[in-house]
Amino acid sequence: MSIRRLPPELINRIAAGEVVERPASALKELVENSLDAGATQLSVRLHAGGLELIEVSDDGCGMNPDEMRLALERHATSKLPDDAIDQVTSFGFRGEALPSIASVSRLTLESRVRGADGWRIAIDHGAAIGEQPAALPPGTRIRIEGLFDKVPARRKFLRSPRAEYAACLDAVRRLAMARSDVGFTLEHDGRRILSLQPAEPPARVAELLTHELERHGVGIDCARAGLRLTGVISLPTFNRGMADHQYLFVNTRPVKDRLLVGALRAAYRDLLARDRHPIAALFLEVPLDEVDVNVHPAKTEVRFRDPAAVRGLIIGGLRHALDEHSQRSAAREQAAAPVMWTSSASYVPEPQLGIGLSSLREQQRTFEPVTFVPQARAEPAVEPVPAYPLGVARGQVAATYIVAEAEDGLVIVDQHAAHERLVLERMRAAREGGKVARQALLIPEVVELDEPDCDRLEAAAAELGEMGLDVERFGSSAMLVRAVPAALGKTDAANLLADLAAEIAELGGPMSLRDKLDHVAATIACHGSVRAGRILSVTEMNALLREMEVTPRSGQCNHGRPTWVKLGHGEIEKLFGRH
Ligand SMILES: Nc1ncnc2c1ncn2[C@@H]1O[C@H](COP(=O)(O)OP(=O)(O)OP(=O)(O)O)[C@@H](O)[C@H]1O
Ligand SMILES: [Mg+2]
Repeated sequence: MSIRRLPPELINRIAAGEVVERPASALKELVENSLDAGATQLSVRLHAGGLELIEVSDDGCGMNPDEMRLALERHATSKLPDDAIDQVTSFGFRGEALPSIASVSRLTLESRVRGADGWRIAIDHGAAIGEQPAALPPGTRIRIEGLFDKVPARRKFLRSPRAEYAACLDAVRRLAMARSDVGFTLEHDGRRILSLQPAEPPARVAELLTHELERHGVGIDCARAGLRLTGVISLPTFNRGMADHQYLFVNTRPVKDRLLVGALRAAYRDLLARDRHPIAALFLEVPLDEVDVNVHPAKTEVRFRDPAAVRGLIIGGLRHALDEHSQRSAAREQAAAPVMWTSSASYVPEPQLGIGLSSLREQQRTFEPVTFVPQARAEPAVEPVPAYPLGVARGQVAATYIVAEAEDGLVIVDQHAAHERLVLERMRAAREGGKVARQALLIPEVVELDEPDCDRLEAAAAELGEMGLDVERFGSSAMLVRAVPAALGKTDAANLLADLAAEIAELGGPMSLRDKLDHVAATIACHGSVRAGRILSVTEMNALLREMEVTPRSGQCNHGRPTWVKLGHGEIEKLFGRH
């Protein structure tokens, strides 16, 4: 057996097999290069779904002829200053895309640096076929024709022009969402498909997905331990039959990540039917050394150093926003309060050959909040009002708020927040008294979860047991639930365990689980609570009010918001100008 070095054309072609699978992946590489070059305006032209032609023109920094020749060589890049592969702020970093594409197509590269003349280099399947001056505005234009024409093995796997076009559109969409500050146009077979002016991120997302998001979206902006998450998600009521409108960006890079899919599903767990999916565009900012971008040939996957923290932030942030929103939209005076979200701070490379250092840009825009469909029931005020501090229930508004009449005014109670607090306090009292009532399940329930979640729950089993939740490991990816806290009543064990695992992951860090007990108990309590949206009978409402009166700390929900507000007679009179 003799070992030989492969000729460079063959090496390039092998690399091409990984980097460019289809027109959309070549297009993605070209658009990324233009963005890395500091382009502010980018035009894409396609013929036959990119099978015949892909052309990308930009107004970026351009290259001089020497740089153009170098750009077409393998492993030549301007983007890794100091060889810092763990500090990548540009889309590209390997110097592989252009030579790979050039080895499997006819490629024409034209470029012009501001203040100099333009130059053109043509390559046919890896072989240089000519160079000459070219007339073009400052920037770069790359044309790719007949991609894979001479690579039958690849050609076979290509799909119809329509399907290839759909994939190209998706690639442009993702990058246009990632960089809303850049203008984009897209033309297919001579037809103008997209024409996007530079915009704020929410407007760009809405334009690319659906304008309905402006009415049915919830803004996200949260941060924890160096991570920041911004973006928009749809209200549970605004959902889709396919999980195709879910976009995640990590430090501006569009990524396809199972973590996002799982975290999204967990965040909407009890809000959406199994076969329905939310819309989401989420921008995550992570310190550069917390994420490895060099794990996938197409650079569409990343590896987080602490995936549990990311998952926890996404689930926690989304849940919180959804909760907050359902409350806010019901409260009239707050209905005018805008839902803000701040964009991912997109990196803007310096407009010189590649060396792009991130400069952070803050952008803001407003989503209109959604208003409830009014829904109220009232009880006739016949009996005299006894001296209860929280009064007597008179009705329920929006299936969420109890309206009660007290001696000294009108009381409005958030039923879910209040009940959640009561359950938590009951559990706490039982724990302190050392007698947690548990309800053994007749048939233990098997709950399937992913392995890390099982590991977390298993490690916490003793503490969970103290709260009346008896769980055991059941194989590699399932848990067995033997008993649940009696305070919970009937509950969905699968949901509860998934939330607890997320909660434990989210709390993370060096705290012992014992210190986290209150958080965990709060998660359990939330499951045992009357959901907003449930119609309550007058007896139930009054029972809730009476229990609140005798429960410590019942004025605040587990998230620190008030559980009730009172409008005194004096204040009511003021409202009507009667004082
Ligand atoms: N549109 C463009 N404008 C200016 N320079 C460009 C453009 N496209 C490519 N280049 C230059 O050519 C070099 C090679 O591009 P190529 O895409 O092959 O590699 P890369 O972007 O460095 O890394 P990767 O393979 O990860 O994409 C880039 O580093 C950049 O300097
Ligand atoms: Mg590149």
